[in-house]
Amino acid sequence: MTVGVGLELDRVRLSYTGTPVIDELSLTVRPGEILVLTGPSGCGKSTVLRALAGLLPPDSGRILADDAEVTGTSGDRGMVFQDNALLPWRTVRSNIELALRLRGEPRATRRAQADHWIGELGLTGFGSYLPKSLSGGMRQRVQLARGLAGAPRAVMMDEPFGALDTQTRAAMQRLLIDTWRTHPTTIVFVTHDVDEALTLGDRIVVLGKAGRPVRAVLEVPDPRIDLPREELRTEIIAALDHSVAA
Ligand SMILES: Nc1ncnc2c1ncn2[C@@H]1O[C@H](COP(=O)(O)OP(=O)(O)OP(=O)(O)O)[C@@H](O)[C@H]1O
Ligand SMILES: [Mg+2]
Repeated sequence: MTVGVGLELDRVRLSYTGTPVIDELSLTVRPGEILVLTGPSGCGKSTVLRALAGLLPPDSGRILADDAEVTGTSGDRGMVFQDNALLPWRTVRSNIELALRLRGEPRATRRAQADHWIGELGLTGFGSYLPKSLSGGMRQRVQLARGLAGAPRAVMMDEPFGALDTQTRAAMQRLLIDTWRTHPTTIVFVTHDVDEALTLGDRIVVLGKAGRPVRAVLEVPDPRIDLPREELRTEIIAALDHSVAA
């Protein structure tokens, strides 16, 4: 069974061609937890995920995965992108297999793994469909399957349910939790939605406005049990408010 990897950002500075986005960010992601990252638009959430995935090297500071420095992408760290990133000319199965091919899995393993994840995410019978003939919710399930296939030890998820209607979104959140329970891995999940943050997070991190360090790290006391958590909700909203105003 997979064991989630612990991740750490140690005084990390990130920029795009000289424009600073993240300055001196330090953050620990505990092995096997779901850490939610939220914050105002443009504060650098996607940038932090890219850096954790190894797609963007830090200007300074260190990024660690189980105490080993992250220097590039790895099959141990998956990514689910913010935009619909499925290849439109490839079938569902082929999109999932592609992620496994990038991890160097042999053909037979790829096929078996893709079929396993097609089943896990309720896509049985749709393996040979093209993304365009699926609903938005199903496309997101394919994206999740692609991110989770090959059982990476950490998966970065960038607002994967942002474009879904409320009901589909709630169903996807339950599916994610169920899948994470049977296939434990570390998840860093970005969302704008406070309720989604409260539903999914073991901890919630509110990032400050661009270039500012973390505004707040909040522990969710009883994760994924449907308790009224109004106090925490108020705290997140206050932190977000503070981030925007800063
Ligand atoms: N490829 C890029 N090249 C140059 N600047 C970029 C690039 N990607 C992002 N930025 C800039 O970096 C900053 C942070 O962007 P990022 O996408 O990480 O924010 P975000 O918090 O994910 O925003 P959103 O909530 O809108 O998704 C923004 O000012 C953005 O314009
Ligand atoms: Mg983003």
